Amino acid sequence: MTQNAPNLPAPDTRLHTSVAIIGAGPAGLLLAHLLARRGIDAVVIERQSREHISRRIRAGVLEQTSVEVLREVGLGDRLDRQGLQHRGIHLQFNGARHRVSFDDAVGRSVWIYGQHEVVADLLASHDKLGTRIVYNVQNVAVHNVDSNAPFVRFERRRSPDLRVGPVERVELRAQIVVGADGFHGAARQAIPGIETFGHEYPYAWLGVLANVAPSTDELIYSLHERGFAMHSMRSPEVSRLYLQVDPGDSVDAWPDERIWEELDTRLALPGWTLGRGEITDKAITPMRAFAVSTMHHGRLVLAGDAAHIVPPAGAKGLNLAIADVWRLDGALARWFDTGDRAHLAQYSTDALERVWQVQYFSNWMTRMLHRDFGTESGVPDEYRSGFEYRMQLGQLQHLVDTPAAIAQLAGFYTGLPLQDPAPAQ
Ligand code: APR
Ligand code: PHB
Repeated sequence: MTQNAPNLPAPDTRLHTSVAIIGAGPAGLLLAHLLARRGIDAVVIERQSREHISRRIRAGVLEQTSVEVLREVGLGDRLDRQGLQHRGIHLQFNGARHRVSFDDAVGRSVWIYGQHEVVADLLASHDKLGTRIVYNVQNVAVHNVDSNAPFVRFERRRSPDLRVGPVERVELRAQIVVGADGFHGAARQAIPGIETFGHEYPYAWLGVLANVAPSTDELIYSLHERGFAMHSMRSPEVSRLYLQVDPGDSVDAWPDERIWEELDTRLALPGWTLGRGEITDKAITPMRAFAVSTMHHGRLVLAGDAAHIVPPAGAKGLNLAIADVWRLDGALARWFDTGDRAHLAQYSTDALERVWQVQYFSNWMTRMLHRDFGTESGVPDEYRSGFEYRMQLGQLQHLVDTPAAIAQLAGFYTGLPLQDPAPAQ
């Protein structure tokens, strides 16, 4: 993505808006929703089709902070009817299951509500608002973010068959460009000198969706000698289950029967059985952490996965995106109302402060609950990994025995507080 390219060919079409948003994930769609409530015009451009973004299976836990935001901005109706309120989780290790009560520790909860449901609610709201969302765009490039006239160039096919036909070159002029284009997006590359920091974990998650009623009332996080396993859910009829696997593993190596047997082993508890059902989705996700040095440069700002990825054990990816956008909406409101630019710089500082606290929490959960088998050398290192495992068991036992430690987990899990940066008028 280039920044200042003076010799661009003339576009076929010019569009104008106040805020150009790249990416129609939860971050981009929520920002467009919040801006619309303030009467600030935005155009969203998205690489994928509407069907694709509506179908994507992603996370499923909303912290209380996120639920409060969604309710406040008119997106709470279906969430309140269909979301499942959970007042705690189960931590399992050493063959025993321990309930951790968020309610008792901090008086707060989380809600089980799939990310694709949040996206569906946002799309329904945008349909009503008439938001301009351009799908199936290609070759997106951000220009002139150092000037007061930034713009985004992209291409889209004119034909309904998106693989053939003439390409239309579009220029989207805006006052601010927002990169909400996820981890694989390109917007952050338009920030000169941006630094990134990250970590690749030596394990991945195999996630499955199964048509079977959950066998548990609340989520089970289990550390087993053979690796981590989790029992989550999406609804009273659909279970979501995860297994720690090797990052080099492929789903072909995991036929359904092997998945159920491994889940049975890692979640086993005397007197408890895991219900089985048809597996409708199966995918392996690498586990990484990553964050940028700044989320703002000139007329370009970043939000959501474009700026940070957390490992999924803390269930924080979607929630961090919501927190970013909540703050960004407030900063943009001040920009458009009063021309006050300081708030955009402050947005980056404040958002990253939360990001690094949540990186710490997600990393803590991840390392506490996954086995590092120590096979970098190709030879299992039982001396070191056996030591690590026993220390993890000690850590978990201390956690469930210590109210202050439980309160720390519960505080993070149900969501750090968010100040209201600029209430909508
Ligand atoms: N041009 C236009 N759109 C793009 C481009 C591009 N160059 N690159 C990526 N996109 C789109 C992707 O197709 C995707 O729809 O940007 C969107 C980014 O959405 P997400 O990856 O969902 O990221 P974000 O909106 O920040 O959501 C936060 O929380 O649960 C986690 O990772 C999970 O998606 C989740 C995230
Ligand atoms: C999920 O249901 O997808 C989920 C739940 C809890 C996590 C991560 C993912 O920590």
